[in-house]
Amino acid sequence: MQKKINKIAKDTNIFLKKFINRQKKSELIIPMQYGLFSGGKKIRSKILIDIGSLFKINYKSLIVIGSAVECIHAYSLIHDDLPCMDNDSLRRGKPSTHIKFGESTAVLAGNSLLIMAYEILSHQKLDISERIKNNLINKISECSGHLGIAGGQYLDLDYENKKVSQKKITEMEIKKTGKLFSFCCAAPLILKNKNKREIKKFEDIGADIGLLFQVADDLIDHRGSSLIAGKKTGKDKKRGKATLISLIGYKNTVKYANKLIRKINNELIKYGPRAKNLSKTLNYILNRDR
Ligand code: IPE
Ligand code: IPE
Ligand code: MG
Ligand code: MG
Ligand code: MG
Repeated sequence: MQKKINKIAKDTNIFLKKFINRQKKSELIIPMQYGLFSGGKKIRSKILIDIGSLFKINYKSLIVIGSAVECIHAYSLIHDDLPCMDNDSLRRGKPSTHIKFGESTAVLAGNSLLIMAYEILSHQKLDISERIKNNLINKISECSGHLGIAGGQYLDLDYENKKVSQKKITEMEIKKTGKLFSFCCAAPLILKNKNKREIKKFEDIGADIGLLFQVADDLIDHRGSSLIAGKKTGKDKKRGKATLISLIGYKNTVKYANKLIRKINNELIKYGPRAKNLSKTLNYILNRDR
């Protein structure tokens, strides 16, 4: 599993480095690269490739689309760590981007990474029909804006130090984290020109996978070591974050996550042995410690 993820991370980084090197240079490139290449797992690309292989999509196209996703993910982390958001100084075992380069630079590097995702998807090197490209761009926009990452991050901050229902917590986590996974699960079907109903089904599976990912992240924050996680742990409690752990406790949250993984696996049964890689990735997501 780790080997496969490492290979995907390597291929994604190679694509992104080449893409950036072909552009004119600017002062923001260094902080952008710092946010992109400082050791992320590239798990969203792994999910994209697992689903893509169910639909026999070629690996190269998936790496390009995954690279766009990773740009958006990197932007979201740079902004998430800012003093006006989670105010975290450590990310992937290194100083957060705003600690290293200053706040205004971190904001602008984040914006530029978000935009770079669109430069990648709209680039002629991604050799797919204009119509399908447009559909991909439309879907990733929906997953990143006020109905996705940005909207979820708003709720995450708004819910600090408030008692919030389980439904609201999971809705918030699906927005801030789940939606980008929804895109990863829907993209292969968009590429294959599947109908809206089928695409929606995979978006829902993606939302559940992303929720599982965020719940696992919350569990790591609760029990994990900062040294291994590469970011400070115990910070959700300190900041009064509304998480399932704060509402129903650690043990019940573990139970919730196990139920969720069974639900996702049940959805995948009909894809037979081909879905095995995806199931393994789900186990990795839940049992990781970074
Ligand atoms: C961390 O994401 C932020 C969440 C959405 C929970 P990752 O754990 O995927 O971060 P990296 O890229 O591997 O550091
Ligand atoms: C971040 O969630 C979700 C994003 C969309 C960036 P967290 O705030 O829990 O992520 P970490 O724990 O700082 O990585
Ligand atoms: Mg946060
Ligand atoms: Mg955070
Ligand atoms: Mg967290």
